[in-house]
This record gives sequence, structure tokens and C-alpha cells, in this order.
Amino acid sequence: MSSDSFAQEIDEGHDGAEAHSHESDAPRAMNVRPILIDTDPGQDDAIAILLALASPELEVTAITSVAGNVPQPLVTENSLGLLALAGREDVPVYRGCERPLLRDLVTAEYVHGPTGVDGAVLPPASVGVRSTHGVDHIIDACLEAPDASVTLCPIGPLTNIGMAIAKEPSIVGKIREIVWMGGAFDEAGNTTAVAEFNAYVDPHAAHIVFTSGIPLTIFPLDVTHKALMLPHHVEALASYGTPIAEAAAGMIRYYEIYDVDKYDLPGAPLHDPCVIGYLVDPSLFRGSSHHVRIDTTNEETIGNTYVEDSAGEPNATIITDVDAERFFTLVVERIGEM
Ligand code: RIB
Ligand code: CA
Repeated sequence: MSSDSFAQEIDEGHDGAEAHSHESDAPRAMNVRPILIDTDPGQDDAIAILLALASPELEVTAITSVAGNVPQPLVTENSLGLLALAGREDVPVYRGCERPLLRDLVTAEYVHGPTGVDGAVLPPASVGVRSTHGVDHIIDACLEAPDASVTLCPIGPLTNIGMAIAKEPSIVGKIREIVWMGGAFDEAGNTTAVAEFNAYVDPHAAHIVFTSGIPLTIFPLDVTHKALMLPHHVEALASYGTPIAEAAAGMIRYYEIYDVDKYDLPGAPLHDPCVIGYLVDPSLFRGSSHHVRIDTTNEETIGNTYVEDSAGEPNATIITDVDAERFFTLVVERIGEM
């Protein structure tokens, strides 16, 4: 399928999924889209954050950290260290939740290493975490914003987002789109047979988000397992030779060990950067709108995300395909040239 037709494949059912037109090549004034990244870095989170900082189409207004791949305070410290690495300590970091809403915290050091960003040593941050809690910052940022203007990019468990909606339901009308990496539909899970990690860690928070009415675009394993960063991509990134490029390549080389061994893949699925790639260039992806749900009922199936279109109107756009070569060209060139 040509990349142009990818643009038309994304269902227009939700606000964020504008089709990407190639009608005019005339330079257009760029509308910079402000985004808030909620994250549990995590090497793939790190690549997503660097890609966002490197993309003039986006303005990262804040980072909120959430316990996931590794616990607090590591996810907060890693967020601060990544901004120091990128020379972007102007971006504020807010520490979010320490644990899921109901379930005990499950972490993933077996994938990400004890620091969460093994494969690189991040520079010390010279700016500390802000004093406002991450959940309260999400609420404050939404309440201060015009209606339907805020883009939230959760790339970890949905704990902070779910808690913010529960604490202040009026933020729902302020949110233009939630773009989340999580879930697995036709694809098997990566944490249990049926559950993807972000969905598994906090399924109750995901249920709050899925039932909120907020326009939701989901990047499940169905598409991220097609976004494999192959050795030639990693070498191309490393060849830029900058501290950022070397740190990014080092993190990917560490991070890929688990998935390459477990799934016998030719490269590591770069889950979280798909969220940013979509916001930069939606023509890279295609998906369709469905009514999605998440199982919170029993230990065997908890965290399983599934489509039940008979249960109600579409509440999410599920992204299922990516133009992988164009996506990785974007990732490598943007981060390489930072
Ligand atoms: O299942 C992949 C997701 O879980 C990614 O967001 C990764 O960073 C971990 O949080
Ligand atoms: Ca993550």
C-alpha cells in the first residue's frame, strides 16, 4: 500500500486522526501542536521523548512520570536525565503516581534493566522535579486550556490519566485527544498471553479512560510489533556520533535483547515512539474506529483489551499498520540531527 493511501486509511471518527493530505507541496505555516507526555522511561519512552523534542511540529509542554517499567523515583529521575541529555531542561517534569489505582505495581526490569534506561548513562539534571503532583498538573493544565485543546500522550500505564479524570471529571471537555501506547487486540500480549504491559499494570485506570468519552487513539502491540528498529536503523543513528545519538543507540541495543530473544525478531519493537510519529505525520499509520473495552474481572484475563462494537458507539481509533521504513527514517534523522 503506498504511503499516500496510509493517510486516508485512518478513520475520521476521532478528532486527532486528520487525514494527511499531499495535495499541496506549498510551504504552510506550521501549526505547532502542544502535547503533554505521561511516561515510565523506559528506553522506548526515551526515544519517544527525544523524537518529540526534535520535532518542530510539536511542543512538549510538560512531562509527567508514572510508575511502570521501573518504580518511582527512577521514572522521574530518568525523565529529568533525558531532558538534561537533550539540553531541554526548560521542559518541566512532574512526579506522578507511585502505583496503579488498585493493583500492586508490576515493573519490567527484566526488559529495561535496573535503571530503566540501561544502555546509556544519562547526565545529571541541573533542574529538579516540580513540586506539583503529576496528576494535579494534568488537571491544572487542562482547566487552564481552551475546550478540546489538550493532547495527552500517555506511553505507560494510564494511572495518572485515570486518576486525573476521577479527581476532576470536568477536564474531559478540555482534552482534544489521548494518544496512548497500550493494549493488544488481534496480537497476543507481552506480559500475559492476552495482556500488554501498560494495560496489565493498571487496567482500572484504562477502564476510566476508555469510558470517559475523550477521543482516544490507541497504538497497541498490533502495530508496534510491526515497528521493528532493525540493526541498520540503529547503526544509522549511531553514525551521527553525537552524545544524544550514541545514548539513544546504546539504549536501543540494550532494550532489544529481550524482545529479539523472546520473539526471535530481527529488531526491537519501538512501541512508544509510534505515538509521537503519528502526531508528527499521521500518514505513517492507519487504523479504524471501534468500541473498545478492557477486562478487569479475573487474574487470567485482566488487562486484555478487546473490541465489542455491539456494546456501543466507537470510543477509540485502533492503529493497526505502520509504514515502518518511513517511520524509522523520521526517528533516525530527527534524533540524529538534534
Ligand atoms: O508494552 C510496551 C509498553 O510497556 C511500552 O510503553 C514500554 O515502555 C512499557 O511501558
Ligand atoms: Ca512506556
